[in-house]
Amino acid sequence: MRIGILTGGGDCPGLNAVIRAVVRKGSGVHGHSIVGFRHGWRGLVDGDVVDLDREDVRGLLPRGGTILGSSRTNPYKIDDGIKRVHTTLEEEHIDALIAIGGEDTLGVAHQLREEGVRVVGVPKTIDNDLSATEVTFGFDTAVQTATDAIDRLHTTAESHDRVMVVEVMGRHAGWIALHSGLAGGANVILIPERPFDVAAVCERLLHRSRRGERASIVVVAEGATPAEGTMTLQSGEVDAFGHVRLGGVGNRLTDEIKERTGFDTRATILGHVLRGGTPTAFDRILATRFGVAAVDAVHQGEGDVMVALQAGEVVCVPLEEAVGELKTVPDALFEVAEVFFG
Ligand code: F6P
Repeated sequence: MRIGILTGGGDCPGLNAVIRAVVRKGSGVHGHSIVGFRHGWRGLVDGDVVDLDREDVRGLLPRGGTILGSSRTNPYKIDDGIKRVHTTLEEEHIDALIAIGGEDTLGVAHQLREEGVRVVGVPKTIDNDLSATEVTFGFDTAVQTATDAIDRLHTTAESHDRVMVVEVMGRHAGWIALHSGLAGGANVILIPERPFDVAAVCERLLHRSRRGERASIVVVAEGATPAEGTMTLQSGEVDAFGHVRLGGVGNRLTDEIKERTGFDTRATILGHVLRGGTPTAFDRILATRFGVAAVDAVHQGEGDVMVALQAGEVVCVPLEEAVGELKTVPDALFEVAEVFFG
């Protein structure tokens, strides 16, 4: 069999570990040929392909990013995009694809079943917002990086009696904000699932100050939004999947806190720092298990499925389950974090 592999959407620590696992199990054990498509779905549209063998994946476990490159190309939004995907698949004699990505990349994978293209998905996103899997690889690394940053911000906040606003990634779901805020002892955590009232945030900070605690940490997910009528936010440009480019709530909130409380307030925008660098051991292992399971699934003739972690086991679930609805932070978890607010 000739199996194609691609990485789409935002990159994430652990992608290379998946590629390595697919090559090692796919060619080393099953005897299939593995080829990589460069820059996600764009590689299929443009016929940009590279052979992958054991030598190509040597030393990849600790390496961040993706050796294949990534993009947010949506072939359904390009003239002749799907026709060109078919041409590439025929020219390269591809029997099946392994698509590593989040909701957008896997959404395309699911749509392609109607074209007769066999795809097995691997869930990837630092945001951890894909349904049907308990966790995605990359999330653990992102949380650890954010927690390290929060730990460091505590000491400088205390030296200067400052409020530190830390903006982390998390477009639709506040998993990174919640987990890093919990682990780092944040005094306020703001997530997209719960629109916030800036007056209530300031009141918590003032309350802390009245108790003599003038240093505070506010963790805000980039997708957190103010409750209607409480604070304005700017909106940015839109990508091929219709997502607005975020970033801005941290700075906006910092200005607002400064103005309303008079506290010396600073913003730290962690942004893409959370996506870069070497994966944690947890993410390397999860990515490796997913890669092995994905190529096994292809070997067994599966298609339109995604590998997922459920109750500690790697299983295959219909792709439809993964792309149907985003996995958001449950109330019960937020309520645990709330115990430590203020
Ligand atoms: O991959 C998900 C994500 O990291 C989001 O948290 C974030 O909003 C987005 O990607 C940023 O995308 P880009 O790299 O295109 O700026």
